[in-house]
Amino acid sequence: MNVFALFFSLNLLFLCPFLSQADVPELSREPPRPIVFVPHDRSKSDPQQVHVSLAGMDHMRVTYITEDKKVESVVEYGTQPGKYDRKNTGESTSYKYFFYSSGKIHHVKIGPLEPNTTYYYKCGCNGPEFSFKTPPSSFPVEFAIVGDLGQTEWTAATLAQIKSQDYDVFLLPGDLSYADTNQPLWDSFGRLVEPLASKRPWMVTQGNHEIEFFPIIEHTTFKSYNSRWLMPYTESLSESNLYYSFDVAGIHTIMLGSYTDFDSESDQYQWLQADLAKVDRKMTPWVIVLLHAPWYNTNEAHEGEGESMREAMESLLFNARVDVVFAGHVHAYERFKRVYNNKVDQCGPIYITIGDGGNREGLATSFKKPPSPLSVFREPSFGHGRLKVIDEKRAHWSWHRNNDSNTVLADEVWLESLSALSSCWPSSQSHDEL
Ligand SMILES: *[C@@H]1O[C@H](CO)[C@@H](O)[C@H](O)[C@H]1NC(C)=O
Ligand SMILES: *[C@@H]1O[C@H](CO)[C@@H](O)[C@H](O)[C@H]1NC(C)=O
Ligand SMILES: [Fe+2]
Repeated sequence: MNVFALFFSLNLLFLCPFLSQADVPELSREPPRPIVFVPHDRSKSDPQQVHVSLAGMDHMRVTYITEDKKVESVVEYGTQPGKYDRKNTGESTSYKYFFYSSGKIHHVKIGPLEPNTTYYYKCGCNGPEFSFKTPPSSFPVEFAIVGDLGQTEWTAATLAQIKSQDYDVFLLPGDLSYADTNQPLWDSFGRLVEPLASKRPWMVTQGNHEIEFFPIIEHTTFKSYNSRWLMPYTESLSESNLYYSFDVAGIHTIMLGSYTDFDSESDQYQWLQADLAKVDRKMTPWVIVLLHAPWYNTNEAHEGEGESMREAMESLLFNARVDVVFAGHVHAYERFKRVYNNKVDQCGPIYITIGDGGNREGLATSFKKPPSPLSVFREPSFGHGRLKVIDEKRAHWSWHRNNDSNTVLADEVWLESLSALSSCWPSSQSHDEL
C-alpha cells in the first residue's frame, strides 16, 4: 500500500464519523454525483493550479504551485501573447498536513495594471502561457457568484455554465474543495478551477470545510486554505486572511469569516467597523458582503447556525446601508426581501443564499413550512448567480439553475442601490459624511 492509499484509508476510517457532524446527514437530498479527480499532467517544474485574485488598487496576485521546489516565484507578463515586457518576483510557502507535503505555493503580485485589459503571463518561467482580463474601472461590472462548490460532476457543470457567459470577477462565499483533510483533493480542486480562475480574479471567503481541524494530529485551522488562497487582507488593512475587502469599479465588497471571532471585542468586528467607516458612497455607491453561514435561512439544513454572528454584526451592516449579503453553506438557492432584525426594512440588505455549486453532499431539499414572509424565492437546485451592476443606481441579479448541460434563468430581480434612496439616510448631511 503506498502512502497515498494508506492516507486515504485512514481518512475513511477516522474521518467520516468526525466529518458527519459538519452537516445534517438525515436530510434526503437529490443524489450527489461522483467526484471529478483532476490529475496533474504537466511536468514537475510547470505551474499548476494557477489562479489570480485582486490585490489592492490596480494589482493582481498570481498564485501557482510547482512540485519542483527550485522553480522561482516569478511572473512575466505583457499585453501581447508571448511578449512579456514586465516581470515581478513574489514569495512562496508550503505546508505539511499529516503525511502530506504540499508543493511550492507561489504568490506573485503584479502591477500596476490597466483596467479592462487582457494580460498574457507565464509563471516561474516554465509551462504554458495563461491570460487574464482585469475588471473595468467603471460600470458596468458583472460578478459570477456561487458557494459550496466542491469538485463533482455537478461542480463541473456549474463551472462550464459560468464559463459560457463572460463575467469580470468570481465571488465564492465559502466551502471550496471539500477536501476535508484529504489534501490531494485540494490540488485536484486547484486544477479543476484553473481554466476559469487563471482568467478572471477569484475572490473567496472560507466555510466550515476549510477549517480542517483534526483532533490530536492537526490543530492549526485553515492551514491549507490560508496557504493556497491568499486574499488581499494586508491590502485592506486586515490582520487575517479570513476577512478582507476590495473595490471593483464602484462596488465595495467585504468578505467575512463565519468561523473566526466576530463579537464586538474581536479583531474581525473592529476591522469591519473601521472598513465600513471608510466607505465613501460617492466613490463606491454599492456595498456588498459575503460570508458562509447565512443569517437568514428558511431551509431545515443549518438552521440557526448564523444566528450568533447575525446578532453580533447585523446592526453594523444595516447602519452602513449594505446593499446585499450573500451566503453559502445551505446547498440550495434562497432570496429574501430587504430585512433588518427579522423584519422587512426598506433600508436593510437583501439576503441571498447561493450555496448551490454542486458539492459531494448534494442538495438541502427541505424548506420549512409554511414559507416565511421574508423569503421571496427558494429552490433546492444546483446553479449559480450573476450580479450585473449597471450603474451607481441599478443592478440586475439573476439565478441560473443547472439543467445538466444547459442553464435556465430561474429567478431575477432589479436592485436599486441604497445609496440612491434618500429616505434611508437621516439627512443629506450624514449622507455626505458617510
Ligand atoms: C471593456 O472593453 C471592451 C472591449 O475590449 C468594451 O467593449 C467595454 O465597453 C469596456 N468596458 C468598460 C467598462 O470600459
Ligand atoms: C433541460 O434539459 C433537458 C435535456 O437535458 C431538456 O429537454 C429541457 O428542455 C431542459 N429544460 C429547460 C427548461 O431548458
Ligand atoms: Fe458549509
